[in-house]
Amino acid sequence: MPRHRPPRRLGRAQLDHGRRPLRAHRALPLRLRSEGARPVNAVSQTAASRAAQPLNQTTQEAVKDTVLAPRFYTTDFAAMDRIDVEPVRAQWDALMDEFRRDPNKGHFTRNEAFDSFRMADLPPDLQAELLDFLVSSVTAEFSGCVLYAEIRKRVTNPDMKALFGYMSRDEARHAGFINDTLKDLGVGVDLGFLTRAKKYHYFTPKFIFYATYLSEKIGYARYITIFRQFEKHPELRFHPIFLWFDKWCNDEFRHGEAFALLVRANPHLVAGRNKYWARFFQLAVFATMYVRDHARPAFHRALGMTPVEYDMKVFRITEEICRQIFPDTLDVDHPGFLAGLERLRLISGRMAEAKATPGLLGKARRAGLAVSAAATFARLYLRTPRRGTPPADVRLSPAW
Ligand SMILES: [Fe+2]
Ligand SMILES: [Fe+2]
Repeated sequence: MPRHRPPRRLGRAQLDHGRRPLRAHRALPLRLRSEGARPVNAVSQTAASRAAQPLNQTTQEAVKDTVLAPRFYTTDFAAMDRIDVEPVRAQWDALMDEFRRDPNKGHFTRNEAFDSFRMADLPPDLQAELLDFLVSSVTAEFSGCVLYAEIRKRVTNPDMKALFGYMSRDEARHAGFINDTLKDLGVGVDLGFLTRAKKYHYFTPKFIFYATYLSEKIGYARYITIFRQFEKHPELRFHPIFLWFDKWCNDEFRHGEAFALLVRANPHLVAGRNKYWARFFQLAVFATMYVRDHARPAFHRALGMTPVEYDMKVFRITEEICRQIFPDTLDVDHPGFLAGLERLRLISGRMAEAKATPGLLGKARRAGLAVSAAATFARLYLRTPRRGTPPADVRLSPAW
């Protein structure tokens, strides 16, 4: 679900070459290719609205490329093909067996609860934020699906081919399941169009490992936190899709485990200078999530948790998990950590206001705010991390 990608301003020069795989669409699992094969903009809209609207608004939202929106990635496929998992062979084979068994094969089947859901029963602000949540989630799931499917297609190394095949299968299922919910509301995202129109950002395999490991693990933490909250307060559960989150998040956890093994097989990825990159990605992912979640106050009210309560819970789970591979993790319980994120959020709010200010004044304000954001991020980054030695056995179970 929600994937948290590092903001564009951070290291963009090196990381973001905007390349795109030309035939991404053909690499997709059949489940989603069939969606893309429909006429552009035709996903689940009525004939009348289709005629009036060339692309529905949710698709337009999903295709936007902003600092906080989930992004699409491409990478160096030849380097991916050279990844060697021999140092963790026994654990790797056990994990691939788990993928092959496909424990969630029958999980993503809708029931009558979806038919009885009525969007109109929710207050208008919650309607808008639920929609925003679903669109951002389907984009994030689909982003994983497209990247994994493309890697699977471009490599010949059987270990990589198997892994990325399984993971794209799972993400296709996840994206399709959310999109079915959007279609119920008459606003399904045109995933075929998204594949063609979304901008692709280039990450080296090293950065793909950090970013996807973190997004899988934080995705797990987000799902399980929502699931546990509604388990405690079933009267608050305002959409049936949340009932699916427990088994769903085990898929995300397993995806994260695969990247944990890849990192363990290539220990240089978390040693020397790379330790600093790993910490940078952790902070970028957490900061992005903090700012984005605060844009959904009604959603969090309905969840019965403030964005700070929810985010802190997710940060604590994710940080604990991250110790499986990263020697340095963020000290999320230090008051300075939350204070720094809050400063970033305020700056981001002022930035949005400054964008509405025309002319030189607006430009100068934006430049000043960009400097404060960078300085705040740097101060957060320079905080003393938690230092530890990752355990000899890298594998973890989803026990939260
Ligand atoms: Fe997923
Ligand atoms: Fe995943």
